[in-house]
Amino acid sequence: MKVFKRVLSVILMAALLAFSCVACTKETEATKKRKKVKKTKEKITTTETPDDPDDPDDPTPTPDVFDDTFRVAISLPTKDLQRWLDDGTRMKTQFEEEGYIVDLQYADNNVATQVSQIELMVDSGCDVLVVAAIDGGALRDALDKAKNANIPVIAYDRMLMDTDAVTFFVTFDNYVVGQIQGEFIVQRLNLDAEDGPFNLEIFAGDPADNNSMFFFQGAMDVLNPYIDEGKLVIRSGQTDIYDVCVAAWKTSTAQNRMDALLDSYYSDGEKVDAVLSPNDSLALGITDSLLSAGYDEDDFPIITGQDCDMANVKNIIAGYQSMSVFRDTRILADQTVDMITAIAEQQTVPVNDTVTYNNGVITVPSYLCVPIFADINNYINVLIDSGFYTEAELS
Ligand code: BGC
Repeated sequence: MKVFKRVLSVILMAALLAFSCVACTKETEATKKRKKVKKTKEKITTTETPDDPDDPDDPTPTPDVFDDTFRVAISLPTKDLQRWLDDGTRMKTQFEEEGYIVDLQYADNNVATQVSQIELMVDSGCDVLVVAAIDGGALRDALDKAKNANIPVIAYDRMLMDTDAVTFFVTFDNYVVGQIQGEFIVQRLNLDAEDGPFNLEIFAGDPADNNSMFFFQGAMDVLNPYIDEGKLVIRSGQTDIYDVCVAAWKTSTAQNRMDALLDSYYSDGEKVDAVLSPNDSLALGITDSLLSAGYDEDDFPIITGQDCDMANVKNIIAGYQSMSVFRDTRILADQTVDMITAIAEQQTVPVNDTVTYNNGVITVPSYLCVPIFADINNYINVLIDSGFYTEAELS
């Protein structure tokens, strides 16, 4: 038996040696192929050979196999909105082109799902975590786990709140998004020349999403002077963000609120002239509500939006939605790939804002991409010529 074990261990040693040579060759090829990728942490995979699992004295070899592949785990909120699907596809493709292994998951807009998803990602030994939170303040414990495991965390598009476990933030300039929407309403109603008064109703996004505050503030800083002057009138009187917000960015909730506003404040024949909608999912519900109430092309209010989702761009072409702010997911994904490549290479990570985004615990170094205004006059250039949509997709 002893002799047999010795022979076995010699065979295993030889096999191991051969394996490491192959691994070395592979590593060189991989390094050549994608010069960029560098490991930051050693990954150890344990391979057990169950010769005799019941025998505690069995000298089962447990070779450490070096795996140099960089693993990116991505947790996104939902597949329901087109933009998150685009974000996921884009990032996955690009990371894979870089030679990274990608674990992309969607959390079905369910906070508990996202928490356990992130915990599993950490347990599985990812090298970097990318998270677009459903509820920015609900992931503290899961993110602590990542921090304790030395895993850098990128807050993707939405800030992760009340935690020091977030390393970088990559997003669009969210305040500017709101500003663009507010300025559009001012220009379209010609508020610097006209006295009005014009009827405006205001919507805000999910209060659990820190971006909502920025969109709201950016827009209201532009609109408030005209409200104060009386050129813009909010018949409902609802101007507080917590009165006008829409949980989970739900289209149906926005539609119900618009229905209620029309019933309660516009049943006397007064018309709504403009609706501030922070994004496209809300704009869809608001548009459907107005269409059901009988508004048509002749008196359709100005409605703002954000994301340039396909259904909304079609509404822009049909004359129902007035504009959208394009958060080009290609730019955001590219920026995230650059950020993570820099992390992987232990290079300086590109950021362009180190003051704006305090999450309640730390100010997170951020990269803010530039949002782009889109409407009927420039959508061909911004969305079709740039290759984001084909003409056929929008017809
Ligand atoms: C994003 C928007 C998006 C909204 C709903 C926000 O955090 O910045 O682009 O429309 O979430 O998903």
